[in-house]
Amino acid sequence: QKDGFRFFMEKEIYEQSDVVSDCMIGRIQDNSINFDEISPELLDGINEIKICACGTSYHAGLTSSYLFERLAKIKCNVEIASEFRYKEPLLTKDTLFIVISQSGETADTLEALKMAKKAGLKSVVVCNVDNSSMTRVADFTILTRAGIEKGVASTKAFSTQTVVLWMLALYFAKINSSISSELLQSEIKALREVPKSLIVEDRIHEKTKRLSKRYLHGHGFFFIGRDVFFPLALEGALKLKEISYLHAEGYPSGEMKHGPIALADPELFTIALMPQNLLYDKIKSNVEELSARDSTICSISSLEFELCDDFIKIQETNHYMLEFFEMLVVLQLFSMEISIRLGNDVDMPRNLAKSVTVE
Ligand code: F6R
Repeated sequence: QKDGFRFFMEKEIYEQSDVVSDCMIGRIQDNSINFDEISPELLDGINEIKICACGTSYHAGLTSSYLFERLAKIKCNVEIASEFRYKEPLLTKDTLFIVISQSGETADTLEALKMAKKAGLKSVVVCNVDNSSMTRVADFTILTRAGIEKGVASTKAFSTQTVVLWMLALYFAKINSSISSELLQSEIKALREVPKSLIVEDRIHEKTKRLSKRYLHGHGFFFIGRDVFFPLALEGALKLKEISYLHAEGYPSGEMKHGPIALADPELFTIALMPQNLLYDKIKSNVEELSARDSTICSISSLEFELCDDFIKIQETNHYMLEFFEMLVVLQLFSMEISIRLGNDVDMPRNLAKSVTVE
């Protein structure tokens, strides 16, 4: 059932292009976005979105918060469900509550959803498992259609969640009339290109295999990025931690100088996410600062930057979200190849379970 792949994680990385196409069926029609599962009235009386999730699903939520604000012009904040539960959150009915979960069973996220329901908030779950506990509690369910995900390290669940949330941001933008039809059209055009961005190129897979040989000796990793590439950096670091057991942190690159840069030395490996279409010069200057302090840097970008020691070249595109998905595949392959070289069980990393139904 691994269809010739070494691990389920590898198979699921390669499946992403197809499942993301499935997840768009019926939702992108001609030049508009449509969700049969929800209605435009969902936004009546709503001024704010609150997202709650755990782990990788939290990273998808954090990514989408940039898109909800940028495209739909709705204030959006994101919280880790286990934190949200006990902070005595102030909940007001002008808030749309969105939970994100692959399994639909994660105890903390489910409890957060129940709290929001109890407070009378409208709720939506973005979920991969139909009929799961969260789908039974939420007012509305949007399924991600990723198919069963077996690898403990989430891959295709994340890419489908992110695409669903991007489409939802555009759907809300349309309802809110907060987007010009030109921008909407160009966003939809980019969305249609996502499956292509998720196709695994042999060249890139080979490169991550080659680099894994050296990078597995890292004493610590920083994954850095800005804007949506910050949550992507968090996701890259989480993937590496959970299957390679190497210490890795995701950081907003502009924040490095406020402390973490003190750690920079040649044994500290930095993975820099350098999108050509978003804040390129800003991240470039952050990378310069790290390079001046002798950190070993690998950039993932469509443009080579001479100060970096290594470079994984992604396809050139004209939208930062396409770069996001191109980089996602690189990050997933990179952590998987390091894990394989270290002899770890990629699909069943130590101390972790696929579904966390206890708090
Ligand atoms: C990481 C991973 C976990 C899950 C988290 C939430 O690869 O899989 O961090 O994302 O446990 O699980 P769900 O999405 O099922 O609520």
